[in-house]
Amino acid sequence: MSAWNKHEVFEKNSMLLLVGILVMVAIGGLVEIVPLFYLKSTIEKVTGMRPYTPLELAGRNIYIREGCYLCHSQMVRPMRDELERYGPYSLAAESMYDHPFQWGSKRTGPDLARVGGKYSDDWHREHLIDPRAVVPESIMPGYPFLMEARLDARSITDHLKTNAIIGVPYTDAQIENAVADLTSQANPDADGVDAFLERYPNAQVRDFDGNPREVSEMDALIAYLQMLGTLVDFKMYDNKANLR
Ligand code: HEC
Repeated sequence: MSAWNKHEVFEKNSMLLLVGILVMVAIGGLVEIVPLFYLKSTIEKVTGMRPYTPLELAGRNIYIREGCYLCHSQMVRPMRDELERYGPYSLAAESMYDHPFQWGSKRTGPDLARVGGKYSDDWHREHLIDPRAVVPESIMPGYPFLMEARLDARSITDHLKTNAIIGVPYTDAQIENAVADLTSQANPDADGVDAFLERYPNAQVRDFDGNPREVSEMDALIAYLQMLGTLVDFKMYDNKANLR
């Protein structure tokens, strides 16, 4: 028997082949899994990530309720065409406060992980009311009712509490002031804005939907979209370098 046909014993004995396969798969599994027990964290630490503001969180809930994830992903993959189109690839840390995550599995529309700051609030409002008014060839459905729907803030405190239970580091002050913070973020003239900004540094405060009379679901959704991809300052990271 030469070295080249030693595998004959496996090929002629199906039970031995099965055992052989199991041993190989087990080695492969161990190589993948064991290091995870020695790593403190599989998520690279980055600066800038903070829990979502109550208004952003409410917007995120609307994003999920309306099924935006069925057509939009939120994960820029580390491939050149994606980096050129969308910007820096997504880091695990950017999804660490997402329960559930919104990576998505389909792109009927573009990826939204870096959409924050790409367009004006007015653009988003027009686009969400009637996508074809701004992008004539768009097949995205319109959501004009978001403009009329007053944002229901009653459950937002519970949403923050629930997120805290599963590991999002909301402080007691953030939970206590959730309802006030939700309205402050959409009212630049409100008394609570300074306290809000202390609790959520660098959050964007303005009347997102152009209607100062009430906080609508449109306010929440646009606040969420304008925050996406903006928390981590990518000028500090050169995450295109390894692809050149
Ligand atoms: C049926 C699929 C579909 C659904 C559902 C959908 N979209 Fe879209 N979306 C698209 C398509 C296609 C485009 C590209 C054309 C355009 O800009 O309208 C798009 C574009 C966008 C853009 C502009 C992205 C860019 O970088 O130019 C945003 C923002 C957006 N959608 C947000 C949303 C939100 C928020 C929801 C849920 C309320 C939603 N979409 C639901 C298909 C969809």
